[in-house]
Amino acid sequence: MTGLLVRRLLAHRIGGPQFGIDSGSYKFAKIKAAVEAAKRSRPGVELIDMGVGEPDQMADPAVVAELAAQAARPENRFYADNGIFPFREAACRYMAETYGVDWLDPAKHLCPSIGSKPALAMIPLAFINPGDITITTTPGYPVLATHTKYLGGEVVELPLVPENSFLPDLERLTPEERRRAKLLYLNYPNNPTGAVASREFFAQVVDFARRHQILVVHDAAYGALVFDGEKPLSILTIPGADEVCLEVHSLSKAFNMTGWRLGWVCGNELAVRAFAEVKDNTDSGQFRAIQWAGIQAMARPEITRAACERYSRRFDLLTAALRAAGFPVTKPRGSFYLYAPAPVATADGRRFASAEEFSQWLISEKLIATVPWDEAGAYVRFSVTFEAADEADEQRIIAEVQRRLTSTGLVFRAG
Ligand SMILES: Cc1ncc(COP(=O)(O)O)c(C=O)c1O
Repeated sequence: MTGLLVRRLLAHRIGGPQFGIDSGSYKFAKIKAAVEAAKRSRPGVELIDMGVGEPDQMADPAVVAELAAQAARPENRFYADNGIFPFREAACRYMAETYGVDWLDPAKHLCPSIGSKPALAMIPLAFINPGDITITTTPGYPVLATHTKYLGGEVVELPLVPENSFLPDLERLTPEERRRAKLLYLNYPNNPTGAVASREFFAQVVDFARRHQILVVHDAAYGALVFDGEKPLSILTIPGADEVCLEVHSLSKAFNMTGWRLGWVCGNELAVRAFAEVKDNTDSGQFRAIQWAGIQAMARPEITRAACERYSRRFDLLTAALRAAGFPVTKPRGSFYLYAPAPVATADGRRFASAEEFSQWLISEKLIATVPWDEAGAYVRFSVTFEAADEADEQRIIAEVQRRLTSTGLVFRAG
């Protein structure tokens, strides 16, 4: 089996006959390969993995127990289609209690999904015709943009830079882009920058979307993971958002349930209905027992509170360690990501042309894994979801990160 026949059949959207040949090796695959090579070459040295994009904790025991109990119930064995009604009601209650969004009708304004990633993949199917534009941010979570392109749409990227607090500057869009745009993708707290949005920014976004007749898709995967005085903020609390916004939520990060695959889309009634139509023709819903477990999780805000406390505590340690090594960083107020400018060189003359080069060096020489981003400046993303046995171990690991980073002088771009 050479695969030659199949190669001729591959669709252009994934590269056609060139698929998998000259893709330049996907960033995460390169990191994985570098980590494996570093482990092989220095077997005695602990590899500190700060590249992970998911919680290191497991789901709450009460949630696990609920799953076990519900899995044994015969009535939960059926297809769940677009979600069981009690999950919709619980998600609406959660939106009201956590974010103050009090206008969602569970039958009209919310549709459960198998996590937020598939929801982001399906939304373009409901809105994008060939030639339509999706506006997105760069760096950013790519799924909505990727699927826009699969459908023959175009993607316009707005850079996230510190000068604008890692918020996109919508004024950069040309009249032509505004006219052809159908979707505007935002994500706050943001992956990878860790930035949070303000109410004022969301109000400007809603105003912009109404003026230019664009649907905002706000990805709130990290919505409840905020600290240091920051409160969970939903774009759906902005007056007028019910006309122009969808918000995508997930239990993955706030409840340590990434592998469980549970989330929802909520907001404008017709947009939710259009999403539900596509979803109904794509999957048959999440296992009902998992939805019941999700209801348990959402009734326990203390799970998210504990996660926030942990991430905030780890950020305090990490921020201090990075600053000691010369990184010009401040503590994020949301997510579990710290986005740090990459150094341009080491004091002993090793130059880094990109964040990717620095990140590869960090893995091979210091056995610290991060994720590099070169889309809008050279940055590396440190996740505070690294594995640690307890608080003392957290402190030990961060002290070790500091020791490794300071043992070679790092040179940063001035300013
Ligand atoms: C910004 C963002 N959105 C969405 C997701 C997908 O989350 P899930 O599909 O687990 O809900 C992720 C996962 O890393 C993410 O970082």
